[in-house]
Amino acid sequence: MSKKMIIAIDGYAGAGKSTTAKLLAQKLGYLYIDTGAMYRAVTYLALQKNILQHKTAIIESVKNSTLSLQYANGVTTVFLNDIDITDKIRSAEVNSNVSDISVIEEIRTELVKKQQEMGANGAVVMEGRDIATTVFPNADLKIFLTASIEQRAIRRLNEVRPSDGKITLNDIRDNLLKRDDIDSHREISPLRKADDATEIDTSSITIDEQVEIIYNKVKETAAKKGLSL
Ligand code: DC
Repeated sequence: MSKKMIIAIDGYAGAGKSTTAKLLAQKLGYLYIDTGAMYRAVTYLALQKNILQHKTAIIESVKNSTLSLQYANGVTTVFLNDIDITDKIRSAEVNSNVSDISVIEEIRTELVKKQQEMGANGAVVMEGRDIATTVFPNADLKIFLTASIEQRAIRRLNEVRPSDGKITLNDIRDNLLKRDDIDSHREISPLRKADDATEIDTSSITIDEQVEIIYNKVKETAAKKGLSL
């Protein structure tokens, strides 16, 4: 049987990567990997140990911890040293600090290696910021999702939980813009569209439409490259 595909989805925070990637993976019966959850888990670890400003201590802590993602029935569960931290990694505090943690070279090296192992067998939809450029530069299909800042902020506001306190649309907008800026300008693997990626602006299309557009691309690519779905 021919090899199954590696599908890379990159893009800005709130552009719809997670929802789209998850639904696409479900449709294809592929594994879904949320790499942002891994950078978030490291940020949570640094916050929990109160070592946010101590790069060497963060690197050391990550090396001495086990981080794993479990994906079942459309839900990713994140484990840090066998403890379920899924809810903890979406806090406002993690949101504010995750981009600063993501610039650390040693952390990226460690997480990229893990991501490459997780996707090595194909039949995977992996989403993040550097999947098509660094993690799987030979991915079979590369998608880059964008959306206007207004749309992205509105989408994130709808995901805010009561436990996050009073967060305004402006707070979210500022956080997204700050993260975009750090993610796009960092020295190592900055967020950018790979030259051979297809860009899709999701500002005025529905999730179902996004998934359909990408699914058609998957079928086209599989036929062209002789890969199986
Ligand atoms: O997708 P997300 O919003 O959960 O990602 C959180 C942060 O993690 C994002 O602002 C930058 C970082 N990240 C990264 O640097 N590389 C990735 N492949 C995925 C996420």
